[in-house]
Amino acid sequence: MRTTTRAAAVLFAALLAVASAPTPCAALARASRGATAALSPRSPTTSTISKKKPRPLPVPSGVHIALGANDDEMTITWQTSSSAGSVVQYAPFGGGNEELVLSATGEERAFVDGGNASGTRFIHHATLRELRPGEKIAYRVGDPVSRAWSERFWFFHKRSPEQIRAGPPLRMIAVCDVGHSDSTGVLDLVRAEVHGVDGADADVAEARPDLLVHCGDFAYDLDSRDGRTGDRYMDDIQPIAAYVPYMVSPGNHERAYNFSHYKARFRMPGVGAETETQNHYYSLDIGPVHLVAWNSEVFFWGEYFDAAYVNKMYDWLEADLAAANANRAKTPWIVVHGHRPMYCAKATKGYAYAAEEESRRRGWFTRAITSGKRALGLGKKHNHADDKPTCSWTNEAVRRGIPSWCEDEYRDGALGACGAREATEFLGEASASASASESQRSIFPIEELFYDHGVDLHFNGHEHDYVRYYPAYRDEVAGGENVTFERYVNPHATVHITTGSGGNDEMDSGAKFPNPPSRGRCTHDDAAAWCAFQSGWGPKKKSGRSADFTYGVVSFDGDGTSLEWRQYSAYDKGLEIDRFRIETSAHGPFKDRIRRGGGRRSTRRRVPETSSSQPGTRERGEAARRRSRSIPQHAL
Ligand SMILES: [Fe+2]
Repeated sequence: MRTTTRAAAVLFAALLAVASAPTPCAALARASRGATAALSPRSPTTSTISKKKPRPLPVPSGVHIALGANDDEMTITWQTSSSAGSVVQYAPFGGGNEELVLSATGEERAFVDGGNASGTRFIHHATLRELRPGEKIAYRVGDPVSRAWSERFWFFHKRSPEQIRAGPPLRMIAVCDVGHSDSTGVLDLVRAEVHGVDGADADVAEARPDLLVHCGDFAYDLDSRDGRTGDRYMDDIQPIAAYVPYMVSPGNHERAYNFSHYKARFRMPGVGAETETQNHYYSLDIGPVHLVAWNSEVFFWGEYFDAAYVNKMYDWLEADLAAANANRAKTPWIVVHGHRPMYCAKATKGYAYAAEEESRRRGWFTRAITSGKRALGLGKKHNHADDKPTCSWTNEAVRRGIPSWCEDEYRDGALGACGAREATEFLGEASASASASESQRSIFPIEELFYDHGVDLHFNGHEHDYVRYYPAYRDEVAGGENVTFERYVNPHATVHITTGSGGNDEMDSGAKFPNPPSRGRCTHDDAAAWCAFQSGWGPKKKSGRSADFTYGVVSFDGDGTSLEWRQYSAYDKGLEIDRFRIETSAHGPFKDRIRRGGGRRSTRRRVPETSSSQPGTRERGEAARRRSRSIPQHAL
């Protein structure tokens, strides 16, 4: 809670300048009850000094910020190894050495890891309020009593739509699947996006992104080594996340102990985000974008997400998208992120067939897999009588919203029981719910929801590659008014992107495999029709190719008519490997857009590639300035 108002604090700051009697320390003491304690150090007793080993200071670590529920709020989160106060001292940035005359007191919660060590760490959340659009804020966090403070950080508060229209485009970093030990290349580049190389651009508003979205799979994993991997990861991202809002959605690697680390270590916005949705789903407006996070894990972890939960989230998502549609004049774009993708780079005729092939490769017992998936409604005969190419059963589960809680059994080969039991239990539960309320359902057609409400962009991770797709719907290329490799003009369906190569230990870097990563347009024979560009996929060992760790930067023009997605590679030290634009003159439900366009939805197998320029020859930022060499696309 805020302990004093901005006006009062500014008045105190003015008093500091004109009055000689109160010292700066005294003024600070009046400005904040917490600060009073900070400036009144304890007088240690002789016995304490002589007999007791001094306790280590509860030094804050893992500081990160997130956009608040309201436009004028920013939430700051950090952790300490022992219990401590939860105070943020802050002020409008004045060069780095100004008095932090404002103060906000937050809350501390003891978080106990579910592992054998039952380690306890203390998570602190505090929300700053009454922040002005675009203003630069300096701050530090800590405990006034012990005087254990963090270093100073700063952030630019969320810009208003008017500021974005008048200024540089809204910029969002989009990256998923970022590990503690394998992500340094990407995190170094993202840090340069925030600060410039060597901090050269630290004070330039135009140089920094407005936010970062990390759509699931953190640290590998947050709970590993009794949570110490998670601690290290939060330290890894502090140079980024203490300066730029770090917005998240959950992935399968957060599932331990019912996503407890994910729920405790972050604080996302939204009504009931803390107690009700627990960071799993929420939305906010920023500039021309309505940004939505949803929990794609609901279809895979039945022990944590029952039918009532999934129904509730689906109802929320439907209502949120409907409200966003009604607000298109103010926020034209609807952008959604979740962990698991609906589409893929390589389609197969029937996902059941693909699953069987995979299980044969691994020597697994296939018959039970197939029976399990058929019990889930995922069998080939049930879904695709025409046997057209589709992605895997997990993609279908997300796309069509079918609970499929058998992933681990599928992976480990202890098959049969999961598919049949879980599906039966869930569908039975949902069916029982349906009799009680017509609003209940047993499948949750997420893609239909996106189509009906005109979701412009949906990005994900989980697959540890970067794949950019053409507008797609119901496993077909949807086309648009004019869709080429580089420009999607008035697309007729949601554009999906998989940006899941932030850094995963399943992938090996160039130090182990000498060949550069696979990268380029989806021209190989088995590429899915909706696949436009792909980089970094496996199997790496078989091909001897390195992983391509990458991240995306999305820029939204302030007038809401165009966005540009760029993808950068850590393997090639910041090389821009892909770029394309979405240009939309009329946002809204796709059926309305198609009707306005005067034509039927086109379903083309291939989109014409009309551009003569090749991606992969443009570099980003300082990397581009330092290096002029052009790196060619690596063969598919
Ligand atoms: Fe994942």
